[in-house]
Amino acid sequence: MPTDVVVVGAGPAGLTLANLLQRNGIGCVVLEARDRSYVEERQRAGVLDHFGGRVFAEAGLADQVLAGVPTQTFLEFRYEGEPRLLDIAALSDGRGGSIVPQQMLVRRLLTTFLDEGGDLRFNAKDVELHSLGGSPRVTYGDVSLDCSYVAGCDGFHGVSRRSIPEDELTTYTFDHGIGWYTMLADASPPKYPLMGIGRHGFAAQFPRGPVASRFYLQYKPGEEDPRAWTDDEAWDKLRLRLGDPSLGGTITDREVVEMRSFVVEPMAYEKLFLAGDAAHIITPMGAKGMNLAIADAYVLAGALTSAVRGDDTALRAYSDVCLRRTWDYQEFSRWFTEMVHDTSGDPFQRRLARARFDRLFTNRAAGVAFADMMAGVDLVS
Ligand code: APR
Repeated sequence: MPTDVVVVGAGPAGLTLANLLQRNGIGCVVLEARDRSYVEERQRAGVLDHFGGRVFAEAGLADQVLAGVPTQTFLEFRYEGEPRLLDIAALSDGRGGSIVPQQMLVRRLLTTFLDEGGDLRFNAKDVELHSLGGSPRVTYGDVSLDCSYVAGCDGFHGVSRRSIPEDELTTYTFDHGIGWYTMLADASPPKYPLMGIGRHGFAAQFPRGPVASRFYLQYKPGEEDPRAWTDDEAWDKLRLRLGDPSLGGTITDREVVEMRSFVVEPMAYEKLFLAGDAAHIITPMGAKGMNLAIADAYVLAGALTSAVRGDDTALRAYSDVCLRRTWDYQEFSRWFTEMVHDTSGDPFQRRLARARFDRLFTNRAAGVAFADMMAGVDLVS
């Protein structure tokens, strides 16, 4: 039996899409290359913005997805150790986001989809997409699925984007010249998401559940190798940059990330539609990666639903609609990144970054604009 949509990938994009399609009565099969525990335990993003929360509320999924999650009210910055609180909830008329670790969101979306009878196949190895211009077919192992549309939600390294002829796509990449050494530690979470800015470089501490924190330290790619830092050295840097001599704990996970951004245009080819990291990678500043994936899935779910019911106008506009938001968020994320990182070591640029930061606290319009982007751009037509 052909299905309406095959969704490739069960990350935030694929699972949001699958739940919304299922709620709309559209048939879909989700194919995930990895096993259930890998998908449920992958720790990455941690903030669901206000717009993302509304996507689930509008679909009647608030109880399943948002129950008990704390609202993000303040952001705390420490400039050369001096604390400043930005009241995101007040500046955005109460449209603060929620603290939702990605693995919690994924677990809840998975459970909801399966409980409602969803068809999700783990360990679907060697997925291939065929005849995207005609009657699409998706194969894995010795299984073949006929469908009307394919949703490529399989992340940056997935098969979907690679299935599009190269000359159909324009790819934009940007290397921010910034490295992050990230550590998960059993250190009590900060009261509010905390960022340290200053001449020693950027650092951050974000809550990860009731007893853990994720820490971030800026390093200079090519000049420094954080893999050579001992845990004691990392704690010393964190204490200095976050202005908190009491920091410490056991580090349970270490990762090195070089900040790169990536956008592919268009986000569609024939009957294949890309969503989330398959189409764009954004820096973590502003916490928009997971939220962009959810926004794409929201727009795509509406467009696919209309198309299956006979009107493909929204589907034809899908790529343009999502790219507008993508570039808007890319600009915000780059702007934020420049404001809080010491990238050039140049004193003049450091003063400019300081002026940009101060404006958030002294000019209400600037604070509101920042909080508005944090809340997420409203529904677009
Ligand atoms: N076949 C099937 N599934 C695949 C394939 C494939 N060939 N390749 C990858 N996948 C799966 C991955 O195992 C993963 O579960 O697709 C899923 C993609 O999930 P994500 O990488 O999380 O991408 P996305 O859903 O777009 O979410 C993006 O989540 O991880 C964060 O930083 C990221 O915040 C951003 C957001």
